[in-house]
Amino acid sequence: PAPLRIALAGLGTVGAGVIRLIETNRELLARRAGREIEIVAVSARDRSKDRGVDISRYDWEDDMGAMANRDDVDVVVELVGGSDGPALTLARNAIANGKSFVTANKAMIAHHGLGLAQEAEGAGHALKFEAAVAGGIPIVKGLREGAAANAIERVYGILNGTSNYILSTMEDTGADFADVLGEAQAMGYAEADPTFDIDGIDAAHKLSILASIAFGTELDFANVSTDGVRRILAADIAQAASLGYVIRLLGMANVEEADDGTTRLFQRVHPYLVPKNHPLAHVDGPTNAVVAEGNFSGMLLFQGAGAGDGPTASAVVADIIDIARYWDSEGEIDPPFSIPVAELDKTMPA
Ligand code: NDP
Ligand code: HSE
Repeated sequence: PAPLRIALAGLGTVGAGVIRLIETNRELLARRAGREIEIVAVSARDRSKDRGVDISRYDWEDDMGAMANRDDVDVVVELVGGSDGPALTLARNAIANGKSFVTANKAMIAHHGLGLAQEAEGAGHALKFEAAVAGGIPIVKGLREGAAANAIERVYGILNGTSNYILSTMEDTGADFADVLGEAQAMGYAEADPTFDIDGIDAAHKLSILASIAFGTELDFANVSTDGVRRILAADIAQAASLGYVIRLLGMANVEEADDGTTRLFQRVHPYLVPKNHPLAHVDGPTNAVVAEGNFSGMLLFQGAGAGDGPTASAVVADIIDIARYWDSEGEIDPPFSIPVAELDKTMPA
């Protein structure tokens, strides 16, 4: 079969990780995908920046938007970020031009995922975003495929690596919040605007995506009740410890029956007191963990690196492999593998 040809927009932490993974595991990927995976074009802001990977063999596009128009590209991979602006324009144009689209951009999926999914499904192409939720943990596939037979009763967990790194490092060392945030930024865990991490917004983006998949509801980021870790002091962590708890920023979503008999979707991101004997109390550093409670599976715990180049690249490339496996000679994807729009419950209020 012909190689699957990739255009890569964004060559920062995740983009460089994707190049490293594709070049390192080239033969293994070809075996698993049933075809070569070939990067043909790349784009970022600064062509001269040293990214620790060799990009000289790929075409450079000054304008990343041009990738959506290239005839020699099957899949556009967006690793730029931002809910709107160039990332969204690229997504819409790529899908309109018959490309499959892979992204790690939870902000864009949380705000525009439904529209993009409808466009992708209408065009018979894939919109995939495994890396957008919990970095390297295959939670989108885990819920959609592994837990597909269950009614999910509740989904919750640690969804922001930067906040978890801050809280667990403050816990271990008593260090100041600002110093630890600087460390998380230096290690590539934080968003370009770290207020998204420390104010809980990034976790809320991810929770809204998880809830949509778990409960089959429309994406509803606007109704996630959100707070972050910005105001937590070392003294709060010490007080919690003396009572037998650790503090963790959790996202939690469940469906509850209201007094009037209707069902409602509850989504919240807040710092929680987690008992020291709970599995989430032992999740430290940039690690994420997601608990899904299925009506037949019982409690499922998914845990792994929630941020960083290698783990996130692993999730991005898993999506590319899926597309390679299901891509037929007309470039059509069967099944479309986006949010299953037709199945969404559009009636459930927040
Ligand atoms: P970085 O800031 O490290 O990289 C962003 C890249 O996009 C850079 O190469 C930058 O170019 C390029 N870029 C930014 N604006 C433009 C523009 N207007 N036109 C062209 N290129 C542009 O981000 P990350 O790699 O950390 O994150 C990328 C995406 O992945 C985001 O959506 C993020 O939320 C998501 N993500 C990140 C994770 C992580 O651990 N870092 C984990 C999971 C998801 P240049 O390098 O030239 O400045
Ligand atoms: N800034 C995000 C985090 C990156 O810290 O979890 C992974 O989505």
